[in-house]
Amino acid sequence: MLKLSIIGAGNVGSHIAVYAAGKDLADIVLLDKDEGKARGTGLDITQAMAMANVDRVVKGTGDYADTAGSDIVVITAGLARKPGMSRDDLLGVNAEIVRSVTREVVKHSPDCILVVVTNPINTMAQLAFEESGFPRERVIGVAGVLDSARFKAFIAAELAIGASRIQTMVLGDHGAQMVPLVDHCTVDGVPIREKIPEERIQAIVDRVQHGGSEIVKLLRTGSAYYAPGTATVELLDAILNDHQHTLPCAVLLKGEYGVDGLFVGVPVLIGRNGMEEVVDVHLTEAETRAFQLSVEHIRERLEQLATMAV
Ligand code: 2OP
Repeated sequence: MLKLSIIGAGNVGSHIAVYAAGKDLADIVLLDKDEGKARGTGLDITQAMAMANVDRVVKGTGDYADTAGSDIVVITAGLARKPGMSRDDLLGVNAEIVRSVTREVVKHSPDCILVVVTNPINTMAQLAFEESGFPRERVIGVAGVLDSARFKAFIAAELAIGASRIQTMVLGDHGAQMVPLVDHCTVDGVPIREKIPEERIQAIVDRVQHGGSEIVKLLRTGSAYYAPGTATVELLDAILNDHQHTLPCAVLLKGEYGVDGLFVGVPVLIGRNGMEEVVDVHLTEAETRAFQLSVEHIRERLEQLATMAV
């Protein structure tokens, strides 16, 4: 029986639990330092599954021993943004949380795959990798799946068509410097440049890059969780069911795309081993320049973290 543990029973963690249980992916443990919140949410979701005739329970807990032997552990613990904050503003406080959570997780599930959702995702995935001592194949940050879905949704709205007809990919950092690949974006296989004028494309790209902030501003109390939760479950599904699909994810690069030693969003073949391989996609000159700027931002944020006493 496959076992999935989710650390953090906030909005994102709870929605991952609902979607993963609804898809019958695994037995689920939902852990939070607020044990009552985890247990209450677990009961609520388990009762929802009984109604839907899905034979899965979500066990809420405050004890890491309950996560023992997990196949996958998702880390969502940490603070979310408030209006006016960038993901980078969460750096210090979330770094401390992700380090201590990773230590506990690894103690009980030394063979798991770690999926990191806490922001800023690229840096938090890097910390989880360093703290865990895991091979790079078993530490993956969720970012590009969410950003690519936002890109798709905005193009669908622009053309007033169904999002399922659109193919998108967003690479680099999960932040304002992310890189929506316009030249690789198609509608029914037709390049979007043949369907949407350039200034509208640039407006959509800008909206994708600030897609999270747009929602933070509207919600006023926190950040998005339905799309981040769904994106995470798409990745979990691909791992647990060995889909061998290419998904844009943040993984440690070792020379691929000209980058060494940083977690960067790139196309990754995902299967039962986690990252099966980094997929090489040809980038245009403009995409390469934007990708390099994005990588620079990830590098600077890591350097900034090193100067903080955390
Ligand atoms: C977002 O983009 C929470 O970072 C997440 O909505």
